[in-house]
Amino acid sequence: MKKDIKIAIIGLGYVGLPLARLFATKYPVVGFDIHEDRITELMNGIDSTLEVENEVLQQVLVNTPSEKKGLFCTTDISAIENCNYYIVTVPTPIDKNNKPDLTPLIKSSETVGQVLKKKDIVIYESTVYPGATEEVCIPILEKESGLTFNTHFFAGYSPERINPGDKEHTVEKILKVTSGSTIEIGEKVDDLYASVITAGTHMAPSIKVAEAAKVIENSQRDINIAFVNELAKIFNLLEIDTTAVLEAASTKWNFLPFKPGLVGGHCISVDPYYLAQKAQEVGYHPEIILAGRKMNDSMGHYVASEVIKLFVKNDLKIKNARILVLGITFKENCPDVRNTRVVDVIQNLKDFGTNVTVFDPWAKPSEVKKEYNIETFSNMPQNKFDGIVLAVAHQEFLNIDFCKYLNKGGVIYDVKGVLDCKVHGKL
Ligand SMILES: NC(=O)c1ccc[n+]([C@@H]2O[C@H](COP(=O)([O-])OP(=O)(O)OC[C@H]3O[C@@H](n4cnc5c(N)ncnc54)[C@H](O)[C@@H]3O)[C@@H](O)[C@H]2O)c1
Repeated sequence: MKKDIKIAIIGLGYVGLPLARLFATKYPVVGFDIHEDRITELMNGIDSTLEVENEVLQQVLVNTPSEKKGLFCTTDISAIENCNYYIVTVPTPIDKNNKPDLTPLIKSSETVGQVLKKKDIVIYESTVYPGATEEVCIPILEKESGLTFNTHFFAGYSPERINPGDKEHTVEKILKVTSGSTIEIGEKVDDLYASVITAGTHMAPSIKVAEAAKVIENSQRDINIAFVNELAKIFNLLEIDTTAVLEAASTKWNFLPFKPGLVGGHCISVDPYYLAQKAQEVGYHPEIILAGRKMNDSMGHYVASEVIKLFVKNDLKIKNARILVLGITFKENCPDVRNTRVVDVIQNLKDFGTNVTVFDPWAKPSEVKKEYNIETFSNMPQNKFDGIVLAVAHQEFLNIDFCKYLNKGGVIYDVKGVLDCKVHGKL
């Protein structure tokens, strides 16, 4: 453990909380968030994002900011005044025109600027376009604090690579890219992370390189998934089983095993727009990045059309047909509904005049209602349906006896290609 380190984590969501918990096993940590409800649940030892087990969280919680190790969570800015490392983990969403929305990053920089002191280091973890830390955040820190960057205070950037719902690749087990505003600060930032990340660290030569590395990791995934989505569309027309083709091709050592599907969430479907925006700002119109986005954003409509084609093939009436959609979260075994593209499937099915029922044992019905105005059930509806769409591969869905819930001649569409039974349709 390094001496005299006091860490503030700004933003206690999917990224901030696991990091705060990890640092709190060795250092005094104050977790700061603007949402009272989030602070209340955390101080009660509960993490509704399910990223940190309640017992594990409770082991590090302390009732007042500690001088030794432990995590204290608060909405009170005065509690972070004595910290010397500020780590910012706030959301970086896009607006309705797919443009980066830097509001949380700007607001949280204003907060940190108000408590910034000489020799402090501010490390950003939020995913951004290359240049955002130095061009957007640093001037705010300077303005709010009256201090000079790289003279009085310093900065770092260390992107997060966790994967919501993934209990294997937890924060300490993922190699961490680090960087600093000077070589010496880069080393300090790297040392700090190296003291808790068991998988090790990689110090990038600059903040911009670290920012760019993160944003291309997710853009690369987006483009690869877009490619297999295009393949699924082609093979469906050729009446070839896409899963079987991918399985056969995957036997080659360097074939990348991506699967077709809906691309949602707070990262892969968002981050490429950050890179695209920056590219456009400097006069380059990205073609491949935006083509990938366009393809993946079209998949909800495509899935709904394929379901309706199955109805036609099976002589099923479409108007008022009862369709059960299984899953609304953006991925399996995780409660995160941010940017889920299942809503596109639902909306398109409704546009065809069908009646859609949604069952998801992981999503919070109140959150889905607030965000998308869609009603969801937390228990399997005990009715019969004309069609079932398996949209998310939650573990609870894998052993459902689908025949029990289907009307005669009803159809199943398996978006994720996970059902063993002979399904009627899949991507
Ligand atoms: N979710 C992931 O798995 C993941 C993985 C890698 C990187 N990232 C990136 O990490 C960043 C954070 O993502 P997340 O999923 O943890 O977001 P999140 O929405 O789960 O959490 C963000 C937290 O920040 C708080 N917050 C918002 N504005 C604030 C402010 N001004 N001051 C203090 N707190 C504020 C919110 O209340 C929330 O609790 C994003 O840039 C994201 O792209 C996320």
